[in-house]
Amino acid sequence: MVTMHTEPLASLDQWDDHVRDRYDPNRKKEEFRVYDDSTPPVVREFYQLNHTGQTLDFVLSKESEYGSLNHGEMGIWEAMEKLNTLVDDSDPDTSLSQIDHNLQTAEAISRDGHPRWMVLTGFIHDLGKMLVFNGEPQWAVVGDTFPVGCAWSNKIVYPEMFAANPDRNRPETQTRTGIYEPGCGLRNVHMSWGHDEYLYRVTKDYLPEPAQYMIRYHSCYPVHREGAYDYLLDDRDREMLEWVRKFNPYDLYSKSDTRPSLDQLRPYYEDLVAAFFPAVVRW
Ligand SMILES: [Fe+2]
Ligand SMILES: [Fe+2]
Repeated sequence: MVTMHTEPLASLDQWDDHVRDRYDPNRKKEEFRVYDDSTPPVVREFYQLNHTGQTLDFVLSKESEYGSLNHGEMGIWEAMEKLNTLVDDSDPDTSLSQIDHNLQTAEAISRDGHPRWMVLTGFIHDLGKMLVFNGEPQWAVVGDTFPVGCAWSNKIVYPEMFAANPDRNRPETQTRTGIYEPGCGLRNVHMSWGHDEYLYRVTKDYLPEPAQYMIRYHSCYPVHREGAYDYLLDDRDREMLEWVRKFNPYDLYSKSDTRPSLDQLRPYYEDLVAAFFPAVVRW
C-alpha cells in the first residue's frame, strides 16, 4: 500500500473529487465560482504547487524523460493491479479503488451503447497515474491540464497562482499564442505534464484517434469544458474534442457507492484489453 504523507493531497482521488464538485450539475449557479472558499486547503496547496512547477522547461524535460517509453514493460492488467494498490486513505469506509472507478466509468459507457473501443478507453483512461511509482509528485500526475509556453488563460482554475511560475519571466511564453503559431493544433502544443499525456504516449499506437484524444485531454478542463485557447486549435481538434466532451460525464459522474464486481466483469474486460493491446506494452 502506497501513501505519500509529504504530499498535500490525501490521495490522487482528492483532485478527481474536487473537479467533480466543481462541475456538479446540481451546484447552484452562484456557488459556481466560489470554489476558492469551499475547497479544502490541501487542494489549494496542491494547485499552488502545480501552477508554480509546470513550466515549459519542466514539461519539455518530462516529455523527453518519458517519451522513449523506457520505464519498463508491463501488461495493461498488471498496470491496473499495481495502480490499485493506491487507495484513497482520506475516506476509508466508502472509498472505491482505482479499478472500481475504471470499471464504473467503462460500464456506464457500455450501458449507453457506445463502441467497444470507448468502453476500453473508459477502463484504462487513468492508468497514466502509474507515474507516481516513478516518484513523480502529485502535481505532475494529476490536476487540470493546460498549455505551457503561452499566456495562461484566466479560465484555468486559480489563475492567480501562476504569479509564482518562473515562466512569468520569459516574455516569449507570455503572449497569447506564445511559442506557437495561431491555429497550430493541440498536437503541436505542450501540455502541462501529467497522467493524460503519459498514457497517451503509452497507448496511442493501439487505439483509434478519438480514444487518443479522450486519454490525452480528459483533464484539460480549460479547453474541453471552458472553451479556452480556441486560437491554438485546428479543425481536427474541434472535431475530436466532441469525443472528449462525450467522454467527460462518464469520468465525472459514473462514481457510485455500488462496487462493481470485478470477478464477474473480468472475462469481458480481459477479452477487450486483449483485442486492442499486446500482452505487454512499453511504459
Ligand atoms: Fe484522469
Ligand atoms: Fe478518471
